[in-house]
Amino acid sequence: MMRAQLEAVIDELKTLRAEGVSSVYLEEQTIADLKAKAGTVEAVAPSTAPAPVAKVSTLPSPPENQPNLLASWKSESDVPEKPKAATKPAVKKDANIPDWIKPIPAPTAFDIPEGDKQTQWNWLRDKIFNDPICREHVRLEKGKKVVFGVGNLDADVFFCGEAPGADEEIQGEPFVGKAGQLLDKIIAATGLKRDLVMIGNIMNWRPEHDKPYGNRPPTETEIAYCLPHLEAQVEIVKPKVIVALGATAAHGLLGYDPERTVGRTRGKWMEFKGIPLILTYHPSYLLRNNTNRSKRMVWEDMLLVMDKIGLEISEKQRGYFAEK
Ligand code: URA
Repeated sequence: MMRAQLEAVIDELKTLRAEGVSSVYLEEQTIADLKAKAGTVEAVAPSTAPAPVAKVSTLPSPPENQPNLLASWKSESDVPEKPKAATKPAVKKDANIPDWIKPIPAPTAFDIPEGDKQTQWNWLRDKIFNDPICREHVRLEKGKKVVFGVGNLDADVFFCGEAPGADEEIQGEPFVGKAGQLLDKIIAATGLKRDLVMIGNIMNWRPEHDKPYGNRPPTETEIAYCLPHLEAQVEIVKPKVIVALGATAAHGLLGYDPERTVGRTRGKWMEFKGIPLILTYHPSYLLRNNTNRSKRMVWEDMLLVMDKIGLEISEKQRGYFAEK
């Protein structure tokens, strides 16, 4: 079991290295855990234990220079994909949160005031932008921003991601980096546009870490603090469908469940507060797994979404990424 997990991690590192990634974000605790586990495997099977394949470096990786942003969402060539395991747990226990991060309290309940959608939205946006905890965890002095949902208040579809990344905390808008550009292409392939849907995140700030690169997945406490903000956004917009992008978004919305991997759960309707919810792969996953198979799975989920909200689906759209 342990061995299988280690091999899955090694496979993922090999893939990342083949894609030109020279450094990956790993917390000290994760490195210590891996070392401890590697020691256990070696003790059991010294001659066959897997050798390390990728350097865990503290040098900044240059995500900006990675050329794997899908130039065209619909026309990449097929590459057979090996099943892979995630290299990071989707939701981390708070024991793993770095000590220097200011503690995060339990969230406080609030009511949205009466009014039309725009009035309610403006009230909520101001509340979140002025929230002392959100502000405390954003490097405001460096021009970084708290991030709130963006899009159409009458949207049928609410896309929910994990947390702002480097580009998002600079621009103060969700999904504006490479993953966001790909999300825009996915949305466009359905015939919708970014400004016709709503786009938000489980988190309102970029989880802090002490590495000069990469993103740390949010912890349970961080997610719990921001969740009422997301619930309120959903309550105001009242979308017909929520698309959870990646397992962390689903864990945040539906509660943590280690069995709920994207591979096992995608393509099936679930519910968030009575609203149909579907889980699909995060655009960042597609950037790392640029294969027809991955894109087809996401596209199949999008077809379900289109069907659910009553969007007409052309034969051409049905055929995108069809198995040859
Ligand atoms: N990834 C996310 O989950 N959200 C963003 O806003 C950007 C990248």
